[in-house]
Amino acid sequence: MPPMTRSRAGDGEIATDLMAEYYGQRASAGLIISEGTQISRQGQGYAWTPGIYTQDQIAGWKKVTHAVHAKGGLIFAQLWHVGRVSHVSLQEDNQAPVAPSAILAEGVKVFLDLKGKGPKDGAGEMVQHSMPRELTVPEIRQIIQDFAQAAKNAIEAGFDGIELHGANGYLIEQFIDSQTNHRTDEYGGSVENRLRFLKEVVTAVADAIGKDKVGVRQAPLTTLMGAQDDTPEITYIEAAKILNEIGIAYIHIAEADWDNAPVMPIAFKEAYRKAFKGTLIYTGKYSKERAEEAISRGWADLISFGRPFIANPDLPYRLQNNLSLNEPDRTYFFGGGTKGYTDYQTHEQFIEN
Ligand SMILES: Cc1cc2nc3c(=O)[nH]c(=O)nc-3n(C[C@H](O)[C@H](O)[C@H](O)COP(=O)(O)O)c2cc1C
Repeated sequence: MPPMTRSRAGDGEIATDLMAEYYGQRASAGLIISEGTQISRQGQGYAWTPGIYTQDQIAGWKKVTHAVHAKGGLIFAQLWHVGRVSHVSLQEDNQAPVAPSAILAEGVKVFLDLKGKGPKDGAGEMVQHSMPRELTVPEIRQIIQDFAQAAKNAIEAGFDGIELHGANGYLIEQFIDSQTNHRTDEYGGSVENRLRFLKEVVTAVADAIGKDKVGVRQAPLTTLMGAQDDTPEITYIEAAKILNEIGIAYIHIAEADWDNAPVMPIAFKEAYRKAFKGTLIYTGKYSKERAEEAISRGWADLISFGRPFIANPDLPYRLQNNLSLNEPDRTYFFGGGTKGYTDYQTHEQFIEN
């Protein structure tokens, strides 16, 4: 199950009992990757997303990891800093969000709860994110430390490992992609420089918790949040080589998403395989048939299923037995309570009712 933001954390951005129930219901996934979880207040981009930088947040996550482990599942925490995809209302003292460069992605919206009505009513709205300001080098070093500390916190909270969100237009991808990074110092310009932030974050996190507990998500071709690279086949394969050298557990490729990302050519997938010796996970509009084909053709080790898992807590059982799938209701994707979250039935419950 890939990371999916559901915006249902409680006050203080703390994971709740309801979230523990939701993740526990989906433990048969084998491996769950949590929703994007901010490493600091500055790293938050949406209403009601959970954090992992306070003791109370660590305590909240313990309930989630226990619920998943009790049912024999594994769970990694997806750690994110959203960079420019944020809004002043989420930042301390209404400050501007931060980014590699002060570039606004026009038309990119974030889910907010400006009326402050609370997570239970799902009263969020989509708002244009705020103009970011460029990070200084000392600030970049601080964020790298924040990632390392958040990784340690995740292990303390009982997670089996962490996935760095290096995809979908958030901070790490903003550094990688040529269109969001116009810096002229050692963090911008050449491919090597644009990959420096990724390399330093991964190294710090691997030193903090062990490289075997670290995965990285990448989205070489998606255009989410206005982030795009001019030469993704070069940039992302170079990144894969760096990740291979560090020796992390996996790369998780978001191949397609909400957008109409171009189909990833087989040659690109084969290049990933050649560059990276660890586990390769792919996600993006997969059916059971396409997943089986991807595994049998050898360029994927694991496939994760996103939206189908929202609506089918027993998805593996349904796929194994060729049962029909519930359709997810996107009205309840972000924010709200149990509806459209923990109330989807398993096949067994459906039969009993
Ligand atoms: C409601 C929702 C929230 C998502 N939140 C995240 C997120 O926090 N982090 C992330 O890397 N991807 C996120 N994604 C993308 C999914 O991980 C996945 O890549 C995407 O849904 C495509 O897979 P699918 O076609 O199987 O759903 C989200 C997707 C959905 C539907």
